This record gives sequence, C-alpha cells and structure tokens, in this order.
Amino acid sequence: MKVPYLDLSVNDKNLKKDLLAAVDQVLSHGRVVLGPEITEFENLIAEMCGRKYAVGVSSGTDALYVSLRSLGIGPGDEVITTPMSWIATANAIVLTGAKPVFVDIRSDLNINPDKIVEAITPRTKAILPVHYTGKICDMEVIGAIANEYGLLVIEDAAQAFAAKNSYGIAGSFGKVACFSMNAMKVLHSYGEAGVVVTDDENIKEKMVSLRYAGTVNREDCVIPSLNFRIHTLQAALLLVELKRIDKIISQRRRIAAHYEGLLRDVAVCPHEDTGSESVYYTYTIQVDHRDELRDFLANSNIETKIHHPILMPYHTAYNGCFATDIPVAERAVQRILSIPNHENMTDDEVDYVASTILHFYSNKIA
Ligand SMILES: Cc1ncc(COP(=O)(O)O)c(C=O)c1O
Repeated sequence: MKVPYLDLSVNDKNLKKDLLAAVDQVLSHGRVVLGPEITEFENLIAEMCGRKYAVGVSSGTDALYVSLRSLGIGPGDEVITTPMSWIATANAIVLTGAKPVFVDIRSDLNINPDKIVEAITPRTKAILPVHYTGKICDMEVIGAIANEYGLLVIEDAAQAFAAKNSYGIAGSFGKVACFSMNAMKVLHSYGEAGVVVTDDENIKEKMVSLRYAGTVNREDCVIPSLNFRIHTLQAALLLVELKRIDKIISQRRRIAAHYEGLLRDVAVCPHEDTGSESVYYTYTIQVDHRDELRDFLANSNIETKIHHPILMPYHTAYNGCFATDIPVAERAVQRILSIPNHENMTDDEVDYVASTILHFYSNKIA
C-alpha cells in the first residue's frame, strides 16, 4: 500500500463538477478582478468567525503583512511570537521593519503564555500567537496579558480555520486574525489565497487600501504598498470548498481520534484541552528515533513531513540576529513528525500507517 501525505488531485466527480461550474461562472461574468465571489467569500468568512469584516488577500503571508501594517507596526516595534511556525510569520514581522521576539512553546507546540510577560519591553507593540497544527493557543491568558500591558493581539490562524476552544473560534480573539487558504490547508484554494478578519472598520479600510498599492478608491496612493488582492477564481473555488468544510474537519478529527487510540503508547499524540476542537491541519506526533521512524515509513511507502525542521530564528536569514531561550522548541523540533491525516484517507490507510509505526517500535523494544 502507498500512502501519500496529501493528495491534491480532485477525484470526487461531484466536487469536480462544482469546482468547474464555479470557474465557468467567473469566466462567464468576466469580473475577474475583485469580482462578486470575493465579496460573498469575505462575508461568509466574517460570519463564520463571528467578525464584522473580512478582507481577502492573495496568501496567508500577505494576510500577516497587511495586518501588521494596518495596525501601524513598523520600525522600532517588537512583536512577541513563537519560534515554531512557517517562516512567513517571522518574515511578515521583519518586513514591516519591526523585530520579532521569540518566546518558547509548550509541549503542545503552541506559544507558552507564561513566557510572554518576561519578554515584554517598552517597545513591545503586539503578541502574535500561531494556532499551530490547527489547535488554538491559550487565548484567554494571552488576551489577559495583552489587556494588562496594552498590547495588540494578531492571531496567525493560518493553520486553524474553524478550530474551536471553549471561548470561541479561531479568528475571534485578536484585534485581527489571519488565515491562509493555500492548497495544503484544511479550507483551501487551488493555489494561493488568504484572508484577514477584524471588527474594526478603520483597520478594515486600511487593509483594503494596503492590499492594492496603498491606494484610496484604487486610485490615489496614500501609503506605499504592493498588490495583495485575492483572485476571483480562487474565491469562487473557496466558496465550493466552504460547503464541505464541516465534513472535512469531522473526517480529520475522526482519523485523529483513531490514531490516538492506536499510537498513544509509542508517541506523544496531539492533546485536546477540554472544550477545544483542533482541525488537525497536521497530525503531528512527537517521538523518539524520529528520523529512523521516518525512513522506516518511507521504505513502507508512507509519506510524512516535518513541519518545520528549522525554527524561525535559526533560518539562514536570521541566524544570530535574535537572542533566543527556547529549549522546549529546540527539543520538540527534533521529535516532531506529521503523519498522513486528510479527508480522503481510507480506514485501511490509517490502519496501515498506525500499524507500521507500531511495528517500528516493537522492533525497537525487542
Ligand atoms: C502558521 C502559518 N503562517 C503563515 C503561513 C503563510 O501562508 P501562505 O502559505 O498562504 O502564504 C502559513 C502557511 O503555511 C502558516 O502555516
């Protein structure tokens, strides 16, 4: 049996029909730039996140960059974030001219709120937690810290669309929240897309301006920016995907529960706090002998990923630029392994992945 990490081809006939119809609709009305599907997509996203506004952009990276700039974050400011994320999180901060300040994570791979307060300086402007793997950070504590110290909160919810905890849904906590809808994500486009949500009309207006060259009425540039507009075709395809998002998430959650039942004795499996519902963008286990296991799985035709093998401050672009005290992240990054968990997996595939992992560890113990 061969188990790919993710299969992006569309084999479901009905889904393909709906996607092609969505493309056909856009080609027929011809309003391909900021077309009506974008407004419909933005309205739906805002409603699902319980926010007043959503602004579609061309990627999750752009969502972060546009958000930070719309909040006036720039040179001289510090933004507290996690070291464990896709590099886009740090890049977006750095490209505004601000400085990322990396604080350690908890064993669940999310930022450790207890470490945030000691990282606050007079220059700190914002906290940027990442809901890593699709699980919401401890937003109650982070929100309380932000209130006490007068800081902004920007959620990097790129991996966590529709994730919940007992206080709310991803995207409902920060001043703004950013999502990625790239092709790998749980709610995904067929290429690149992103969106930002907020309740603040002023911020929304700034983001609309920043996403198109910093213009007002798409004419006069009032603040230099680039072009971050979402494509109408991607919004149209996302509207189709939105119709099946509940099914996708429940399937991923079902597979996650199945994995946990089988693997909990040999791996640290993702843990859900009471009342929280991860969307399992990745099913990331933490294991001993990670690299050996990965080779063993590859030899058994099971594709896995390491998300992400280099902690953000240690990328070549930043190595040595930022002081770090992140022992938990440094250990975790040696042990994480994302195993296949997507809605198109069959039960046989899930069992094959789990039994191959168990087989690997039974040989280790023997
Ligand atoms: C946590 C996180 N932030 C930001 C991004 C950037 O999103 P995009 O790839 O849509 O630019 C990603 C994408 O993988 C991500 O996982």
